[in-house]
Amino acid sequence: MSKDYEKYFVKPSIRDARKRKSQETPVIDFSQHFNIKGFGKGKTYKIETYGCQANEADTEKIKGILEALDFTESETLEYADIILLNTCAVRENAENRVFGELGRLKQYKKNNPDLILGVCGCMPQEEKVVDRILKKIHYVDLVFGTHNIYKLPEYLETVVLSKERVIEVFSEEGSIVENMPRIRENTRKAWVNIMFGCDEFCTYCIVPYTRGKERSRNKNDIINEINSLIEEGYKEVTLLGQNVNSYGRDFKNEDYKFANLLRDLNKLPIERIRFTTSHPKDFDLETVKILSQGGNLMPYIHLPVQSGSNEVLKRMNRKYTKESYIELVDNIYKYIPKVSLTTDIIVGFPGETAEQFQETIDLVEYCKFEGAFTFIYSKRAGTPAEHYEDNTPFEDKKQNLYKLNEIVNKGYLVGNKRFEGKTVKVLVDGLSKNNDEVLAGYTENNKLVNFKGDKSLIGEIVKVEITEAKTWFLKGKQIG
Ligand code: SAH
Ligand code: SF4
Ligand code: F3S
Repeated sequence: MSKDYEKYFVKPSIRDARKRKSQETPVIDFSQHFNIKGFGKGKTYKIETYGCQANEADTEKIKGILEALDFTESETLEYADIILLNTCAVRENAENRVFGELGRLKQYKKNNPDLILGVCGCMPQEEKVVDRILKKIHYVDLVFGTHNIYKLPEYLETVVLSKERVIEVFSEEGSIVENMPRIRENTRKAWVNIMFGCDEFCTYCIVPYTRGKERSRNKNDIINEINSLIEEGYKEVTLLGQNVNSYGRDFKNEDYKFANLLRDLNKLPIERIRFTTSHPKDFDLETVKILSQGGNLMPYIHLPVQSGSNEVLKRMNRKYTKESYIELVDNIYKYIPKVSLTTDIIVGFPGETAEQFQETIDLVEYCKFEGAFTFIYSKRAGTPAEHYEDNTPFEDKKQNLYKLNEIVNKGYLVGNKRFEGKTVKVLVDGLSKNNDEVLAGYTENNKLVNFKGDKSLIGEIVKVEITEAKTWFLKGKQIG
């Protein structure tokens, strides 16, 4: 072979990932860097996605790049020429699932030595993961992180043509890449990144290290993206950011915040706008008031509280108190009475006492959450809480989790019950999992509804009268 391939070997560093400088975020225009080479003609790929919506959105971009290279998606893992695992590092069990899957994929590699097996997403941003791959998982060909998806074409070229293993993970603060091609999962609902990264550094959390500095996208790029989605027939967008309420905080020459963005998006002819995730510390009254105008701004807010104890919140570095959280929730209910609130809670944070856990239970009951993701604390290497003393037996944490979940599940049911006998608007996603005469979709309050209807309604917004509320879903009948 005449061409010399660049050697890619850059390992991550949590220490570098911790740094934040005040320099302007570079914006890379993908279309300027990409010449489509038909490189993947006749070849197939398969991606397995773990973790949050940020990863789901990234998978759509990775698919976009692969299909721009002329790869097509494989029906099965078994016959794919490329398998990529887009991974999540937020808790240990998320990581264990990926290592388990890598073990299982070894056989495919044996059957097909030309198979390219890659690991990307948040796990490669951790030193310990890349070290483990280097030491023990020799059959992985390609490792890249969250900051360099746009370099996938050159990585693949190198792996395929030079047979070199590629490992390149950047731990700098990150850029913004615009104009990446994209194969979206859904034809009616779309993810729209409004920002990347996180600067909060909650003491338990790995995300600020895996995703880099908080960077907000230019408002025109966001609005243009949503306008093209509208043209393509999309009915719902979900704005994505680790802390959407701090959108615009990093703009140097512009005073344009999340409330401004919502006000502008409220005017666009799209049926539904959602956003996730909100941070209680930055959720201002102006945003609450704009949401109260309704229209396409959906009455559903996911507002992670993590704990109901001020001492625990302080050690988590959440930068709000139980009282200020309650004040925010009171305002949300006051201005948006029909809203549905959900939350995230961590049980068994190092040093959490029985009394502090009880404060969380009390807060959950007060806030009338209609759902919650609850997690047992998981120690993450490189985060401050890694070194916090933690003497509570895991069994006790599990008991607390059960106790909390019982209360949380009651909240799901109470939240669903209030729609019995009411008419709601459902954006139909598809057939229900268990019965293909039944359609499934979500209401404005983000409640799952099953109702009998024709397949032609998939992708439409339909009026449904709710006949029965269950804990996990509503049953209804189409009206009109
Ligand atoms: N940026 C979002 C989501 C972050 S990850 C937010 O701030 O809410 C989603 C959830 O995972 C968090 O809300 C938190 O409840 C949970 N989580 C994060 N790190 C964790 C850890 N080390 N152990 C257990 N749960 C964790
Ligand atoms: Fe993690 Fe906190 Fe950032 Fe959410 S806000 S991603 S919990 S550091
Ligand atoms: Fe997981 Fe990364 Fe999201 S760690 S939760 S996939 S930002």
